[in-house]
Amino acid sequence: ETRILRVSEVNFDVIIDEAAEIIRKGGTVAFPTETVYGLGADGLNPDTVLKIFEAKERPPGNPLSLLVHSREDIKKVAKNIPEKALLLMDTFWPGPLTIVLEKKDTVPEITSGNLPTIGLRMPDHRIPLELIKRAGTPLAAPSANLSGKPSPSLAIHVLADLAGRIDAVIDGGGTAIGLESTVVDLTVEPPVVLRIGAVGIGELEKVIGKIRPTYAGAEYGSGKLMPEKQAGQKYSHYTPNTQVVLVEGKSEEKVSEQIGILLEEHVSKGQKAGLLLSDETAGFFTAEELNVHDCFLLGSRKEPEGAAKRLFEGLRTLDAAGLDVILADGSFSHSGLGAALINRLREAASVRHFV
Ligand code: TXA
Ligand code: MG
Repeated sequence: ETRILRVSEVNFDVIIDEAAEIIRKGGTVAFPTETVYGLGADGLNPDTVLKIFEAKERPPGNPLSLLVHSREDIKKVAKNIPEKALLLMDTFWPGPLTIVLEKKDTVPEITSGNLPTIGLRMPDHRIPLELIKRAGTPLAAPSANLSGKPSPSLAIHVLADLAGRIDAVIDGGGTAIGLESTVVDLTVEPPVVLRIGAVGIGELEKVIGKIRPTYAGAEYGSGKLMPEKQAGQKYSHYTPNTQVVLVEGKSEEKVSEQIGILLEEHVSKGQKAGLLLSDETAGFFTAEELNVHDCFLLGSRKEPEGAAKRLFEGLRTLDAAGLDVILADGSFSHSGLGAALINRLREAASVRHFV
């Protein structure tokens, strides 16, 4: 049975103490961070880390990262820390940046997926920070979803996937960002960005100079060449069971026109199509069209922050609607969180159109 711990101003201390005790006793607790909900356990104890792999049905070789509360924690788990890593911590911590460093032997092999490295992040959220402090150990904390499902941005997403499989979930409301952290590997030169999140390539380069992006969509423009997969990237991100067709382009008119053509095609074959749209693109469809087809609106294409927050909820909702295809709008601005948003859409899509 999974306990649901609803946190408020009044009971914060009691709830965090309860959760910390579960962790200290070797249990698993899901909690919000500023990116997505994480599933935490004592990251230095192989037996408790195994529980995370089992609950998520995560492939054993896929490395977990550790959430830390202070710079002191880092010295316990990482070695040969380069100057650039310290600069990134100064600039972006606490925040949505996971930094991959050489690991010490204190980190069990199961945690790092047998890699000689470990990803570290200091979250910008009071619940995990206080939980790590009171549990007295860095927490192994992957996203709190079943392997192969989208990351959870709400506690109900965690329960949908993991109820009965974990000891507790702290319900702290929706997550502020809604997409997972940027992951940067500092054990290689130039450093490599393995996953794009709220911290952008330009922001990183301002602090540490040249870096090499290797995530899907880093090559925006051609949209064709995919870089080779790096360690820790073997396991692809979420792909819905329903086929996703992504239509990218700068013109909302052209994108909506192409989505309209695809919609016609599927409907004429007697198929059920769902729509994942920006407000602007939705404006080109009639109210009736939006009504007949399952439609999930992500907000304005000029505000990728809002769309990022709603993306995983949208994919979960449409994937559960028994559709033959999801037609997704890729016309969102690439600035700010837009790069990460487009990356997740590309990961989810099996067919991509550029108009
Ligand atoms: O925002 C986040 O990072 C969230 C919250 C909960 O902190 N966590 C998260 O964890 O997304 P997870 O395990 O779902 O994703 C971590 C990513 C995975 O793609 C993993 O393969 C990669 O980071 N990773 C972790 N450790 C690595 C390592 N030592 N080397 C290369 N990649 C690593
Ligand atoms: Mg994950």
